[in-house]
Amino acid sequence: MKILVTGGAGFIGSAVCRHLVKDLGTAVVNVDKLTYAANLDSLKPVSENPLYSFHRQDICDPEAILAIMRSEKPDAVMHLAAESHVDRSIDGPAIFIETNVMGTYSMLEAARTYWSELEGPARDRFRFHHISTDEVYGDLPFDESLFTETTPYAPSSPYSASKASSDHLVRAWNHTYGIPVVLSNCSNNYGPYQFPEKLIPLVTLNALEGKPLPVYGKGDNVRDWLHVEDHAKALATVATRGEIGHSYNVGGRCERTNLAVVEAICDILDAQLPRPDGLPRRNLISFVTDRPGHDRRYAIDCSKIEAELGWTPSRTFEEGLADTIRWYLANEDWWRPIRDKNYAGQRLGTGSTKT
Ligand code: NAD
Ligand code: TYD
Repeated sequence: MKILVTGGAGFIGSAVCRHLVKDLGTAVVNVDKLTYAANLDSLKPVSENPLYSFHRQDICDPEAILAIMRSEKPDAVMHLAAESHVDRSIDGPAIFIETNVMGTYSMLEAARTYWSELEGPARDRFRFHHISTDEVYGDLPFDESLFTETTPYAPSSPYSASKASSDHLVRAWNHTYGIPVVLSNCSNNYGPYQFPEKLIPLVTLNALEGKPLPVYGKGDNVRDWLHVEDHAKALATVATRGEIGHSYNVGGRCERTNLAVVEAICDILDAQLPRPDGLPRRNLISFVTDRPGHDRRYAIDCSKIEAELGWTPSRTFEEGLADTIRWYLANEDWWRPIRDKNYAGQRLGTGSTKT
């Protein structure tokens, strides 16, 4: 089995590459443009493995992608490459349309040609797995039931609208051209190797360095947290055993307010590495101007993947968070260069103003 993974140098893509190569013995062809969010150091555990190979390539070039498919002959494609940060999509939506919409279109066109050239078992085996987000379902009121696979799409941000568009393209290419696709929509991931502009690594590293911990609005927005290694296992399951044309919601069954997440990080860090002055890190929490159009809540019903494919999240949030914080403490050589480079700019939690 050989899988072409796009975005394999990103947070989730690198976890997928590590899981496929190390745990499942599957050959992986990683196709990644290496944007600011990529880090080849996240692939060190597999980079010398003969099952792993890498092509630096923009997914928006369908001819180049087709050439890679023809030479590498993958059995499946797992398409993760995307622009993934909501705040960046608000500041500059164009690259989100380019990468997430046009890039997915380009991937689908390359896959359509490649699949049309396959014969026999290789043609039957082929799958195009599109990795998407629960944010396509939009703002979930606090008193409403969880997102299921049939919840209508209602994306709110440029990011989620671009992902919703890409989901529609994938379904249309299945319906119209018969390409064997599967989709998955997951909740907020956390875990090792996450770029420190996202809430959990940003707050962890700011707290470690005694910097303010920016909480948007009142911190009462709710997200459903999924450990990236649980997610990688779900993705491998969907890619290989998902039913053609189906989508699968993947969640952690771990709904938390942002404030509860930030407070938990403070408490875990205080226990693992007390501040020299002995003060609690909760003192660093700073409520800042809210994100425009900030969705109140996302929460996934993952009973379909549990019942049909036998996957279930394996960690509690508290265990996963403590492990993640331990990982950041032990891997400063991974995150220090990113922090040093990006603090020169306006990102990584310095964009909002204190309320
Ligand atoms: P990420 O931002 O960490 O990584 C994205 C990767 O895609 C990077 O390695 C980047 O270099 C690559 N990439 C971007 N544009 C490219 C292009 N034009 N050509 C080739 N490669 C390109 O993202 P992530 O958090 O790992 O998310 C992966 C996927 O999962 C995305 O599709 C995202 O929408 C989805 N998702 C993420 C989350 C989450 O919590 N992180 C939740 C739901 C869904
Ligand atoms: P994020 O990690 O950006 O993921 P998403 O927006 O895709 O859910 O943010 C998670 C939640 O944390 C979201 O409700 C916004 C909030 N947030 C903050 O309160 N402060 C921050 O500095 C960041 C980056 C996010």
